[in-house]
Amino acid sequence: MILQANQENIKKAATLLSSDELVAFPTETVYGLGANALSDQAVKKIFALKQRPSTNPLILHVATVEQAESLIHPLAPPLVTSRFKKLAQLWPGPLSIIVPKTDEISDLVSAGGKTVAIRIPNHSVALQLLEKVNLPIAAPSANKSFAVSPTSAEHVQESFRDSDLSILDGGDCEVGLESTVVDISGVVPRILRPGSISCDDIKSMLAEDCLQGRGNETNFQKEPVKSPGLFDLHYSPTTPLIFTEDLDRSHIHSRLGVLLFSKERVADFDSKNNKIVLLSENGNLEEVAKGLYKGIRRLDQLDLDLIVIDTCREDGIGAAIMDRLRRARHFD
Ligand code: TXA
Ligand code: MG
Repeated sequence: MILQANQENIKKAATLLSSDELVAFPTETVYGLGANALSDQAVKKIFALKQRPSTNPLILHVATVEQAESLIHPLAPPLVTSRFKKLAQLWPGPLSIIVPKTDEISDLVSAGGKTVAIRIPNHSVALQLLEKVNLPIAAPSANKSFAVSPTSAEHVQESFRDSDLSILDGGDCEVGLESTVVDISGVVPRILRPGSISCDDIKSMLAEDCLQGRGNETNFQKEPVKSPGLFDLHYSPTTPLIFTEDLDRSHIHSRLGVLLFSKERVADFDSKNNKIVLLSENGNLEEVAKGLYKGIRRLDQLDLDLIVIDTCREDGIGAAIMDRLRRARHFD
């Protein structure tokens, strides 16, 4: 059920969350599927509804830095807490910070690991909801596992048609791509998932080096750095998706859905067989990110042979866009 995000409905949503029910809510990145993180019963409902593997940990959403600090293990190394304080200055914002977790956070949330990801979202509806409920809220993206993330309340409803899930409608998400996930619990900070906050942003906040991708080093808990769920096939539409550079003669008779990043390329694909979605007139990558999942979802509903998508340079938010596209790309 879609609920307009007014005061009354935000209050209703907070009551549902406190009673261990699920609520979908908007953030600046994508819509989240929220549950009381201190209740195993509530957290189990997320895994069941999303059909999410229990090996994939959840991100905790809170309203204040103090609340976030209370979720860090009291014996976390000083280097980790000092990194945390520096990066928390980027909150509220599209950044999830992985830290050693307190024992209060159950193994269900952390998928058995000793760390937990935390973020303060930059969205007034999310912040009002989190303030009212005053509990850490576990919230993965509000889609079925391995599918495309939702950037509107309607997208959430499409994914969970058969359930009576309450969905707070806060309009289209501004950023459109999931948060940057940075692990500061290890010897070297590491970006596990690129997002609109870039590696350079993090390096300059920390004034230390920051690596990207999965590493082999161990963290302070002497367990291998792992990031389940981050390296698998993800974000995939049902229609096969390829890059414009993958097109060859074998696709000559295919009905294509084409997602372009600037209007110069429209002429190359203009034909009555094709459906073109222009994500930006002039290659503005913030616009591309914002409209990307909506565009993929729209073309995926048209029963076309193939979705073909532009590519971009991998700096700033371009790195996050290309990361998601590589995971969605279809290989025969
Ligand atoms: O923008 C976002 O982050 C959205 C909104 C709703 O906040 N949430 C989101 O959650 O994208 P989710 O669950 O779809 O993606 C979180 C990713 C997962 O791939 C998970 O494996 C990883 O973060 N993750 C979470 N906790 C982790 C941990 N302790 N260690 C390593 N990876 C972790
Ligand atoms: Mg997700």
